[in-house]
Amino acid sequence: MLAEAVASQAHDHAPYGGVVPEIAARAHAERLDGAIADVMARAGLAFADLDVVAATAGPGLVGGVMAGLSMAKGIALAADTPLIAVNHLEAHVLSPRLTAPLAFPFLVLLVSGGHTQLLVAKDVGAYARLGATRDDAAGEAFDKTAKLLGAPPPGGPAIEALAKRGDPARFTIPRPFRGAQHCDFSFAGLKTAALRIWETSAQSDQDRADLAAAVQAAIADVLADRTARAAALAKAQGASALAIVGGVAANATVRTELQRVAEACDLTIAAPPLKWCTDNAAMVALAGAERYHRGLIDDWTVAARARWPLDAHAAASAPVLGSGRKGPKA
Ligand code: KG4
Ligand code: ZN
Repeated sequence: MLAEAVASQAHDHAPYGGVVPEIAARAHAERLDGAIADVMARAGLAFADLDVVAATAGPGLVGGVMAGLSMAKGIALAADTPLIAVNHLEAHVLSPRLTAPLAFPFLVLLVSGGHTQLLVAKDVGAYARLGATRDDAAGEAFDKTAKLLGAPPPGGPAIEALAKRGDPARFTIPRPFRGAQHCDFSFAGLKTAALRIWETSAQSDQDRADLAAAVQAAIADVLADRTARAAALAKAQGASALAIVGGVAANATVRTELQRVAEACDLTIAAPPLKWCTDNAAMVALAGAERYHRGLIDDWTVAARARWPLDAHAAASAPVLGSGRKGPKA
């Protein structure tokens, strides 16, 4: 890694309590050129020095993705390099390989703001889904709980901070699908349970911390249970490692619970450093490099995609929540 930068726009969205698509698109268009000029200068490179240009092409809020992909096309055209359009979910899946070797096949728990899935990564570009959320993603459960408790976005870090002074055992939060034979998830009920408890409490600082701790514990517990179920299937397919990736993989309680699962299932565990759990360009560059080395070059006509499932099977069948689409909004 020669240089990297994050041009955060969290501040722009803060007054609205969530990400506003129009603001996100404009912020990308306004900040991309400055961020790219900055990393090029720090890397000591000119565009003519580049071998290949990679950018996220989805899935996600399409305005921001379009701004980034158009910029990448412009640079690749000017520098006369190939273009790689990266599925940002694939970048999450490969992200542990930024810092340590991780051999295929491996089991992946992908947990972010828009997705919660269990996959077997067989190779670059070859992913088989074992399970996915049937409604909200785990990150959404964190974000909605934070909103309920009046904590500022992004919700995950806010809940994690509150939970540090909370008692996770004081309130009872359901564990949907715990012990089920399949490998799917459901998180929509957690939000409703949290709402009921919050409305009937005194809404004191301690209530807030205890409820945050209870929700975090429930999410971590369900993620661990569903991953343990998938571990048996993945091991039968030759996996010997578990990778936990995506924004929610930055959560210390989630990491601890998944570490326990890995030990119990005799899998080694791999996770990117915290800063490369949430969306970042380093993982997109890595996915781009891995595709480039396999000759997986894209055409100039490649378009930004709001939905883009990782596994070919899901792409061929009806749209499934958790495979590239956000759950229903509350
Ligand atoms: O991967 P990501 O940056 O973007 C998507 O692709 O969605 O994930 C963002 C999600 C948000 O829901 C955010 O609240 C959650 O990851 N998140 C966390 C933590 N840091 C980010 N959730 C729990 N604990 C954290 N420390
Ligand atoms: Zn992401």
